[in-house]
Amino acid sequence: DNNWVDVLDSGALPEDDVIGVEVQGRDIAIYECEGEYFATDNICTHGHARLCDGFLEDGEIECPLHQGRFDIRTGKALCEPLTEDIRSYPVKVEQGRVWLQLE
Ligand code: FES
Repeated sequence: DNNWVDVLDSGALPEDDVIGVEVQGRDIAIYECEGEYFATDNICTHGHARLCDGFLEDGEIECPLHQGRFDIRTGKALCEPLTEDIRSYPVKVEQGRVWLQLE
């Protein structure tokens, strides 16, 4: 209901790490940060790079191509060369699974 999609075993994502998953044809990045999970689109808003190949630190993901950084909680673009925020998605963990709300 409400379009929650089961995307991942929560044990599949190590602490403070990011993984790319395909969800209903979309490329999504799932993040773990201090026991909480977050999700954004995986393709950078600046160019064709996958954020899951980037560097996650202190709740920020750094794009591997030109080192733009997004806040993983909100998708907010934090520095140049980014000009556009990235879409973020609501996430919940239930029964050991990570769920994502697409709409
Ligand atoms: Fe991500 Fe340029 S492609 S910062």
